[in-house]
Amino acid sequence: MLKTVKKLNKGLKGEITIPADKSISHRAVMFSSIAKGECIVRNFSSGEDCHSTLNLFKQLGVDISFIDDKTLQIRSSGKLTPGGNNYIYPCGNSGTTMRLVSGILAGQNFDSVLVGDESLSKRPMKRIIEQLTLMGADITSVDGHAPLTIRGRKLHGIDYISKLASAQVKSCILLAGLNAEGKTTFEEPYISRDHTERLFKYLEADIKTEGTKVTITPSQMIAKDIDVVGDISSAAFFIVAGLIVKGSDFVIKNVGINPTRSGILDVVERMGGGVNILNKRLVSGEPCADIRVQYNDSLKGCVIEGEDIPRLIDELPVIAVLASQADGDTIVKNAEDLRNKESDRIKCLVAELTKIGVNIEETPDGFIVHGGRGKSEGKCVGKSLANNTIVQPLESYHDHRLAMSFYIAGLVCENEIAINGFEWTKISFPEFENLINQLL
Ligand code: S3P
Repeated sequence: MLKTVKKLNKGLKGEITIPADKSISHRAVMFSSIAKGECIVRNFSSGEDCHSTLNLFKQLGVDISFIDDKTLQIRSSGKLTPGGNNYIYPCGNSGTTMRLVSGILAGQNFDSVLVGDESLSKRPMKRIIEQLTLMGADITSVDGHAPLTIRGRKLHGIDYISKLASAQVKSCILLAGLNAEGKTTFEEPYISRDHTERLFKYLEADIKTEGTKVTITPSQMIAKDIDVVGDISSAAFFIVAGLIVKGSDFVIKNVGINPTRSGILDVVERMGGGVNILNKRLVSGEPCADIRVQYNDSLKGCVIEGEDIPRLIDELPVIAVLASQADGDTIVKNAEDLRNKESDRIKCLVAELTKIGVNIEETPDGFIVHGGRGKSEGKCVGKSLANNTIVQPLESYHDHRLAMSFYIAGLVCENEIAINGFEWTKISFPEFENLINQLL
């Protein structure tokens, strides 16, 4: 679907509520499916990725029903049973589904095959196969890619020091460790999102965290009702829009502000564009708040690197758009794993933003944006996004976060832009454009 976006000549105003966090919605269904008992999951994500997880656990014999479009009832004995079409389970476009579910299925007493769409079938799976194999798992892949054939068997605990800070890898190993023989420890170089650890604790798994090291002792989780907070990765598009569209001033309600996810808030502050965090609270073990965003005409570039990266990995495409509207350079380093997302987000981002005049350079492990806002002209668009003549649409590469980042760029672009494949927003955030319209 081709979507055209025009420059906004007025600020975004009002109040929106951000829909459910994708990472937490996946985990709510997965963990309630292997926990014992009955629970309600409120504010479940309507994105396709989370529905891939939900359908998969239905096929594994878990009783999951919708009370309304965002509320689930889940009843489980804590045991899974093989099902699906010939024990083949589709994961769609969702890396979180495939990687975390592998950790659950590897330790079952039945065999399974996990398949993905074209994009997921190209994403690296060695990062989980290697560790699970050390735990005694039997997994066959196509040269480190899906389909994954998992022959279930009893696993044993390991002590593992990971070179990569990845919540998907960490969660996969912790899920395998929950049902293995003996303890499992997983250590990472920097802390990655800790939703698994928080939800494990909430559901009474025997888990301990010490800095960047997590230890899981085999245990049975107990089902409890879960309220899913709003997704900061979805809120990020609005935070950036509010900062760069002249005259904007609005409140984003119910945003998860878990410190392992809130790197974008630190970057915004470093760029001189502070937002107001209001009404802080804890919801099912996750910190949450409302965020007031206001237009800022004096943003400056900054460096984003090291332990920042896992805390804002999914926000980097829209941060590039923000950086284009700041004065000076924004340098992103140590983000090579961005090449392994739904697209090669370094290469694709640079190619497409260049088409609309952003001064952005690709580096092996990130990118550099040479920003510049034409303040003297009293315009909200910068040198970098001005005067473009778009003859070709921007390509989303079937990547939801690229499609939405380009849309935000379009709001400050001098000329109308077009985005190809905008329907991919359905993967994480089908409500995206409606919420933009609510602020007009
Ligand atoms: C996720 C972890 C991150 C993130 C992805 C969701 C999760 O991936 O990019 O969108 O829910 O655990 P990595 O763990 O591969 O960094």
